[in-house]
Amino acid sequence: MPSSPRRNKPGESFSARLLGWWDQHGRKDLPWQHNRNAYRVWVSEIMLQQTQVTAVIPYYQRWMERFPDLASLASAPIDDVLSLWSGMGYYARARNLHKAAQACMEEFAGELPSSAEALASLPGIGPSTANAIVSLAHNQPAAILDGNVKRVVARHAGVQSWPGKSAVLRKLWTEAENRLPTERAADYSQAIMDLGATLCRKQNPACEACPVHVDCAARQDGTTSQIPAGKPAKEVPQKIIHMLVVQDEHGRVLLQRRPPSGIWGGLWSLPEGESTAGAYVSIGLGSAPAGRSLPELEHRLTHLHMRIQPVLVTCPPSAGLECNQLRDSPDLAWFGKADWNDIGLPRPVSKLLQQLDQYQ
Ligand code: ADE
Repeated sequence: MPSSPRRNKPGESFSARLLGWWDQHGRKDLPWQHNRNAYRVWVSEIMLQQTQVTAVIPYYQRWMERFPDLASLASAPIDDVLSLWSGMGYYARARNLHKAAQACMEEFAGELPSSAEALASLPGIGPSTANAIVSLAHNQPAAILDGNVKRVVARHAGVQSWPGKSAVLRKLWTEAENRLPTERAADYSQAIMDLGATLCRKQNPACEACPVHVDCAARQDGTTSQIPAGKPAKEVPQKIIHMLVVQDEHGRVLLQRRPPSGIWGGLWSLPEGESTAGAYVSIGLGSAPAGRSLPELEHRLTHLHMRIQPVLVTCPPSAGLECNQLRDSPDLAWFGKADWNDIGLPRPVSKLLQQLDQYQ
């Protein structure tokens, strides 16, 4: 029987297996991995925040020719900085690089500070980027948690909840810290990022090739496609709306113009209320003739789930509703079938009217 590959020995720590994999398969020839220093790592990390590696490389090389160090960046006109950035988008990143370089000249004696805390006080540097700089440039163990790494850690630790919640994010930080090695901090940071970018992909992760799949909770539970979880859908409130379909002997339907603001503002719609009686009141009728309940219609808006309960009332004579009783109002009028398509009815009302024939 073939022995299991070294990378899948479950007894070996997460970091040892990851580093073993990275030694064989990791990226080691990216421009910011050469002549490594905090400035070069910082610039690369900011560029890589919202831009793919292959797109970043030419920008990075041009940047380093023009701004080889912190001092050259700090003293450059902002227009030069923005022009070198032009095409990468998210220009706040370039402005923050410039501002942070100037802050370093003034507050940190012309150097990027060496602690993660001080780095995170600079514009545009969050906790994960600060830790990336500390680990990649100074080889200090420090957890990073960018989008790719979040996915790796959430899956391996089986964190099923949405990472947008602060308690879940804290849990991910703890899990990321628990996996740190004591040595080879820089290689480890690069390795976990590489794993997230190449194997532990959002869709179709290559679990078979992953050095930590044997004890990956998501792999064991079959939940890789659900982790990390997306933002949960908001509970949308429900509202029951009673609508009157008052129809005269010619088949015309009584419509009411809605107030100019709010949902369906200014459109003609069926008279409605929070109860059938309330809907009658809205058209000036105190007495409520018996009508026929029609099937409920659902109408979902992003902020509201409407359940429309229509009542069909024929007028006159059977329902006992006198047409001339109806309030004389410019916002109340009879419309025949031929008009329904032309007056821009709310969608569920239009749907309901199209179905009316089947209830005659
Ligand atoms: N994305 C963020 N940091 C990176 C790095 N150092 N290498 C590759 N991709 C990255």
